[in-house]
Amino acid sequence: MSDGRTFDVLVIGSGGAGLSVALLLAPHARVAVLSKGPLSEGSTYYAQGGIAAVLDTTDSIESHIQDTLNAGAGLCHPDVVRFVVEGAPAAIGRLIDYGVAFTREAGGEGGLEYHLTREGGHSHRRVIHAADATGKAVEETLEQRVRADPRITLFEHHVVIDLIRERLPDGGLGRCLGAYALDRQADEVALFRARIVILATGGASKVYLYTSNPDTCTGDGIAMAWRAGCRVANMEFAQFHPTCLYHPEAKSFLVTEAVRGEGGRLLLPDGNRFMDRFDARGELAPRDIVARAIDHEMKRLGIDCVYLDISHKPAEFIREHFPTVYARCLEFGFDITREPVPVVPAAHYTCGGVLTDLRGRTDVAGLYAIGEVACTGLHGANRMASNSLLECLVFAAAAAEDIVTTLAAIPQPPQLPGWDESWVTDSDEEVVVAHNWSELRHFMWDYVGIVRTTKRLQRAKRRIDLLLGEIAEYYASFRVTNDLIELRNLAVVADLIVRSALLRKESRGLHYSLDYPPAASDSRGRDTVLTPEPSPLRQPEPQRL
Ligand code: FAD
Ligand code: SIN
Repeated sequence: MSDGRTFDVLVIGSGGAGLSVALLLAPHARVAVLSKGPLSEGSTYYAQGGIAAVLDTTDSIESHIQDTLNAGAGLCHPDVVRFVVEGAPAAIGRLIDYGVAFTREAGGEGGLEYHLTREGGHSHRRVIHAADATGKAVEETLEQRVRADPRITLFEHHVVIDLIRERLPDGGLGRCLGAYALDRQADEVALFRARIVILATGGASKVYLYTSNPDTCTGDGIAMAWRAGCRVANMEFAQFHPTCLYHPEAKSFLVTEAVRGEGGRLLLPDGNRFMDRFDARGELAPRDIVARAIDHEMKRLGIDCVYLDISHKPAEFIREHFPTVYARCLEFGFDITREPVPVVPAAHYTCGGVLTDLRGRTDVAGLYAIGEVACTGLHGANRMASNSLLECLVFAAAAAEDIVTTLAAIPQPPQLPGWDESWVTDSDEEVVVAHNWSELRHFMWDYVGIVRTTKRLQRAKRRIDLLLGEIAEYYASFRVTNDLIELRNLAVVADLIVRSALLRKESRGLHYSLDYPPAASDSRGRDTVLTPEPSPLRQPEPQRL
């Protein structure tokens, strides 16, 4: 521990996954948490609907498992589903102990004191929530705890560029030893060394033009793990949330699925419902089915949006259960207590990611991945609503337990070279980065969206190949900036999505291709696992390749 940036455990990311694991490890290890921006900025803060868990005597673990398997369209790993679902009540208990103020219901069904809502794919009410701002309640509580813990050192506004691996005597690469991060305020690259590194960097939905996600979700962890030599799985399963507010200035604000859970109806412009034509579960079918149905109707009728209507419920009920959605829609001129609100699908969740085992371990020794960055096998081809925050919490606990039992045997990281930018200059054409960002997100939306064809995927692939070349050249010549780091990662993620989509020669869950028939819903499918080629890109030095 010779300098201020050497730790037992380096946690990259401060959402539900990162802050949870940091709190669990703090009694046992010196922990650092890095975040790209302010600690709270990430998907967790914006989560609305809630967290799925069996908390009610009228519900059952078997039912939560079965619903998750059904939504996952034959690709969930049953052992992982059971592990997560069984771990859910304890995970919720920890949040309650930390002080998260979930919405209460006096004399609720099953003797529970908390209100449970419902979302797509769930056959029971089992989503615990804090009105419609569950993520804010969770993130703020975890943040308070972390800030109060002197054993945790926080590095906000630090964007990690790449992981560092040990160089073995035979020239091969060994364990993960740390990371290089751009300190955005000091505008310099810092070296972080650690015995264990945990990626908790969230998802990659910013690869699409329209997304419910905040700006942090650029798939950095997936791209970094890939460059470091980890396998990545199921990237073709990009989840589109069916109902984001349709308004030019709303930046794809999410209208929670719990609105449909509490009776909200999807309508065409003529006021007719349409979901029953697509699935017997109507508005509460799993998300892939609802998003695809909306996409189908929009294309069929040439309309810009459909409508979500909950105005038949009492206004008081709506304002009490959905205060955030009510207030935000009102800002845009829609009073949801009185009228339907225009909605469209937008990219929402990355079901694929860095392949991990049940303890969050990746292919690289000393490197863990937890939360949305990981592909654990829980979500299969389509994540069921509110299983994501749950996965963050359960895998944070599993990784922490594994680290606590193994840490003593892991040596201190050796001295490592600092970041070398002696041969790069400041860019004189930042505009290239902005253009490439925009181009990438446009063609991913147009060619790799809710409905795909092989031809469109091939078109996207050709464009990605060009961009990858240009970005590599740019990266080798100019000093890193936040936008460049993110663009470089987005291009890698886009490539992984398209390559995975081209490999899947069927329609399953979130991957729907007009060239292939849908897989039978009960058929067991195979994961798409991509293995990185050995490449000089993954050497820990020199740094700027
Ligand atoms: P995040 O919360 O996204 O945190 C990622 C962290 O990584 C951030 O701190 C970020 O700064 C940091 N980071 C990223 N890259 C770097 C880098 N290069 N260097 C340093 N730091 C980095 N799921 C549910 O289960 N229930 C819900 O109700 C729900 N509602 C949602 C509503 C919205 C609007 C959205 C967007 C998502 C919702 N989800 C919901 C999904 C869920 O919120 C996310 O999957 C989950 O919060 C992911 O948590 P995480 O900790 O993995 O990542
Ligand atoms: C929502 O509230 O609709 C989002 C829930 C989720 O993504 O799990």
